[in-house]
Amino acid sequence: MILKGTFLHTPTLGELEVRENAFLVSEGETIVGLYDTLPPEYAGQPVEDWGDALIVPAFTDLHIHAPQIINRGIGYDKELLPWLETYTFPAEARFADPAFADRAWKAFLNHLWAVGTLRFAAFATIHKEAAWRLMELTEASGLRGLIGKVNMDRNSPDDLREDTDASLADTEELICRSREALRRTGFILTPRFVPSTTARLMDGLGQLGEKYDLPIQSHLSENPSEVAWVAQLHPDIPTYTQVYEHFGLLRQDKTIMAHAIHLSDGEKALLRDKGVMLAHCALSNTNLSSGIMPLRQDLEQGLRCCVASDVAGGHTANLSRSITATVQASKLNWLNHPDQAPLSLTEAFYLATRGAGSFLGQVGAFLPGFAMDALVLRPSALDALVERTPFERLEQFLYDGDDRNIAARYCAGALIPQPFPQL
Ligand code: GUN
Ligand code: FE
Repeated sequence: MILKGTFLHTPTLGELEVRENAFLVSEGETIVGLYDTLPPEYAGQPVEDWGDALIVPAFTDLHIHAPQIINRGIGYDKELLPWLETYTFPAEARFADPAFADRAWKAFLNHLWAVGTLRFAAFATIHKEAAWRLMELTEASGLRGLIGKVNMDRNSPDDLREDTDASLADTEELICRSREALRRTGFILTPRFVPSTTARLMDGLGQLGEKYDLPIQSHLSENPSEVAWVAQLHPDIPTYTQVYEHFGLLRQDKTIMAHAIHLSDGEKALLRDKGVMLAHCALSNTNLSSGIMPLRQDLEQGLRCCVASDVAGGHTANLSRSITATVQASKLNWLNHPDQAPLSLTEAFYLATRGAGSFLGQVGAFLPGFAMDALVLRPSALDALVERTPFERLEQFLYDGDDRNIAARYCAGALIPQPFPQL
């Protein structure tokens, strides 16, 4: 396939490459190269010419709660722990009903498609069949996802508290089922967070991680009351991060931890050594008054970071809004910490494309050997009033654009139509 247009992408953190009237050549799922003139061996091949449209890498969201899509924007009068009890757990309990789950998952996947998030790592719920349905629907959608059945066996409401052995057995069943039946959709171990999972459950999940060589996702040090609670639950383990390490849940280069705001230097060194991907959730951190992650400092210290939505702590799955919120949060952080420079928009864009994509392989930039994932952006009527550079057009899309600006979506070399138009 050959796409023609104005390409913008971030090969490294802080570097923006702009290529006007260029040709992106791909074979199968993979990019061959980005060229200013079409190499002679491709002469005569059909070209999808998008005129002066912008073409950017599609977004990757490494921290999103699929069931919470129904709660976007609701309940930000509370902090994390009462917010979970009051709003989030009742919403997730509804997914015991397979018919409801089916409708909600289809709407979720349609929505991610609409806003240009074509790859993701998602929490489902504790319910085995609902989680399986999300895996099947993701496989059918053309989007690429890692999906986890959530594990919870303590400090949870009756209708969301599992028996420890059943939780482990259901998890292992889904691991095996997905390996047999699905080609593109992967399973990711998903202990909700330390307060929701007993030592025996965490230990069992750590063993499943080793047995099947699986990625892991969870939450870490989001809120001061949560951190204090973990210290109370595990008085023999010095830090929150070490609790996960103790149970084998910091798998080398295969772990995503969301938030990671309130950390000691020792915890950061451990996270860096384990290659843990920290998902920075600026919208959620603000909505739930959780704190400001010192993202600049973390990047300078060599920690792996990405930008993620954390719906429904975050109020929108549109990663453009998380990108701009990341820049805004970094500016507020800079006012109190003048040694921690704010992030540029280009840096934040990288963290939602190539930065996040690096967890999944060669994803998120227009480089040879990378997955051919792209969004075609067209200007709105307002934007078209004034001549703008490609970067200015990208700025306006990230700050104020939405799905109406996205003319086409490509994932792994294929044009992706809306997954469930009949919904
Ligand atoms: N910690 C444990 N569960 C959750 C959740 O659903 N959302 C957020 N933001 N933090 C959590
Ligand atoms: Fe979360």
